[in-house]
Amino acid sequence: MMKRIAVLTTGGDAPGMNAAIRSVVRTAIYHNVEVLGVFHGWSGLINEELKLLDRRAVSGIINQGGTILRTTRCREFHTEEGKQRAFETIKRHAIDGMVVIGGNGSFAGAHEFFKRYNVRCIGVPASIDNDINGIDLTFGADTAVNTALSAIDNIRDTSTSMERIFVIEVMGRNTGYIALTVALAGGCEDIIIPERSYDLEAICQDIARGNARGKASWIIVVAEGAASATEIARKITDKTSLETRPVVLGHIQRGGRPTAYSRELALRLGYEAVIRLLAGEYDEAVGISGNKIVTVNLELAIQKKSLDVERIYKLIRILT
Ligand code: F6P
Repeated sequence: MMKRIAVLTTGGDAPGMNAAIRSVVRTAIYHNVEVLGVFHGWSGLINEELKLLDRRAVSGIINQGGTILRTTRCREFHTEEGKQRAFETIKRHAIDGMVVIGGNGSFAGAHEFFKRYNVRCIGVPASIDNDINGIDLTFGADTAVNTALSAIDNIRDTSTSMERIFVIEVMGRNTGYIALTVALAGGCEDIIIPERSYDLEAICQDIARGNARGKASWIIVVAEGAASATEIARKITDKTSLETRPVVLGHIQRGGRPTAYSRELALRLGYEAVIRLLAGEYDEAVGISGNKIVTVNLELAIQKKSLDVERIYKLIRILT
């Protein structure tokens, strides 16, 4: 019987993390289980930054971006000593299981921790990158896509009015999910993403041909893991002699009020993680696939996720 669990957020913050924390805390308390909040991710486990969370500790956070538990990218956790110290904290505080809210790197840490010390962890997939294998969507990604899309819509006004070529760089680490989604939804002309090789010469020829027909404004979305918008914009100008502007959207994509969908997902998955942990499940991530809640073993969840790139790319190009 589990009496006390811990919850932490690690890696890059994602909109919806607070909603997930709220869900974990209130679900556990409902089942008479205590919840310790670990501050600053794995680092808080190493340095013993824990606090008992009651129902009121998670009031008023459902609509806030970021994470009230704070988060870090903790190098120390990847060392023997770091993991050992984190495990000592687990023992000292009689923690029976952990809910780890984060992305790919966070789940890799949780899986390693389980293998080494048999600490029962369940992952709740939170990342703007949508980089967890075996599930449809990490929460936070929908908010990031909407934020980036709204920025692209704004840029389109200038692109159309001033008849300019914009190259817009979006986040995603080594995935092209945000780029692919905003390019389709934003009616952009082309994309450069890590999952697909690109031919800049062909893109430039396309632009030159379009220009000759009178098409003067273009938006090309670049995923940060594939290329730099500044570089691509400079090369397009060099090859076509047309004016370009690079825009790097950066961290504005990561913050902000979670969308209804990010919240809904965070709340459902936070609940599910606690229920599964109490039922004796561990070393897995909860997620949705085809709108059903599923679990994926952490080892599998951290493998490279494949995107339906060609189908969406074709659509982008047909519709442009
Ligand atoms: O994983 C989320 C993410 O925002 C990635 O898209 C990006 O590559 C990275 O984090 C940036 O990390 P940091 O905020 O540590 O620079």
